[in-house]
Amino acid sequence: MSNFARIIGTGSYLPPNIVTNSDLEKRIDTSDEWIRTRTGIEERRIVTDETTCDLATQASIKALEMAEISAKKLDLIILATTTPDKIFPATATNLQKQLGASCPAFDLQAVCAGFIFALTTAEQYIKSGKYQNILVVGSETFTRLLNWEDRTTAVLFGDGAGAVVLTNDTETGILHSELYSDGNYQSSLHVNNRLANETGYVEMAGNEVFKYAVNSLSNLAVKTLKDANISESELDWMVPHQANIRIIQAVAKKINMSMDKVIVTVNKHGNTSAASIPLALDHGVRSGKISKNDLLLFEGIGGGFSWGSVLARF
Ligand code: UT7
Repeated sequence: MSNFARIIGTGSYLPPNIVTNSDLEKRIDTSDEWIRTRTGIEERRIVTDETTCDLATQASIKALEMAEISAKKLDLIILATTTPDKIFPATATNLQKQLGASCPAFDLQAVCAGFIFALTTAEQYIKSGKYQNILVVGSETFTRLLNWEDRTTAVLFGDGAGAVVLTNDTETGILHSELYSDGNYQSSLHVNNRLANETGYVEMAGNEVFKYAVNSLSNLAVKTLKDANISESELDWMVPHQANIRIIQAVAKKINMSMDKVIVTVNKHGNTSAASIPLALDHGVRSGKISKNDLLLFEGIGGGFSWGSVLARF
């Protein structure tokens, strides 16, 4: 009998403060037209006083409700975040407390690929038979890392959280996953702090990252389907990282997927880093697009570079 890690609950949370492109026009030298045509973003949410743990808690409560599992039944919590509330303790331990759970909890950092890395990590604990129920969360207050003087990054990001509950299923669940890192591009996308007690700001060579993202994610999508022995036509939904609509369109085109079968939230959320995929997944599920037994392809890339994919039967 096999063990599969199957997603049985999804949840998400967005801070209420909406910032539109025209709000940004008043603050920096940019335009709604530039942001829409280059990225697909129309608006994003920006925290006022909420913490990464606050967002994660709200998203997790919803995922646990859908899964009909009490936090006490969790065996592990993995929180993917680039914006922990403190350097230590891990924000995941505060989330454990807020949820009333008592299991081990740790943070995982792979920037925008964080949710893919966390999902794959959780899968190993379930497949091995060690744990039954795992909460995987992507939560970010990424706008705290933005330099509002830098229009090349300030318009791109937003805040939010998404969560999934995974459980051991003997029939189906995560079918295949791939992870990659290439540490040769440290300064192409990074936070520029030089001292441990400085926070620093995001800096990105946007065009270089764009080209690397299109190439690596397109090749990855093809390889994932090939290695899993799945044809494009069997896929029900692509649930990609939401950085730029043009990157999403290029990857979909590479595997002949109609954009009607791609969950897109970048227009409303901007790039929420590790939160973007679980946010998009929850949107797809709660809007009635994604149904039980649908075959889903998750993929994303971020600083490092680190990137990966997960193929899962929902
Ligand atoms: O999630 C992690 C992975 N991150 C990504 O995947 C992001 C990847 N990169 C991108 O999405 C795109 O490269 C951007 C959206 C960041 C930029 O789009 P682009 O088409 O690559 O534009 P560009 O960087 O080549 O800049 C084109 C022009 C420049 O002006 P000049 O030099 O041509 O006169 C920029 O100064 O656009 C200018 N520009 C802006 N103009 C208005 C850059 N930012 C802005 C802005 N508003 N906010």
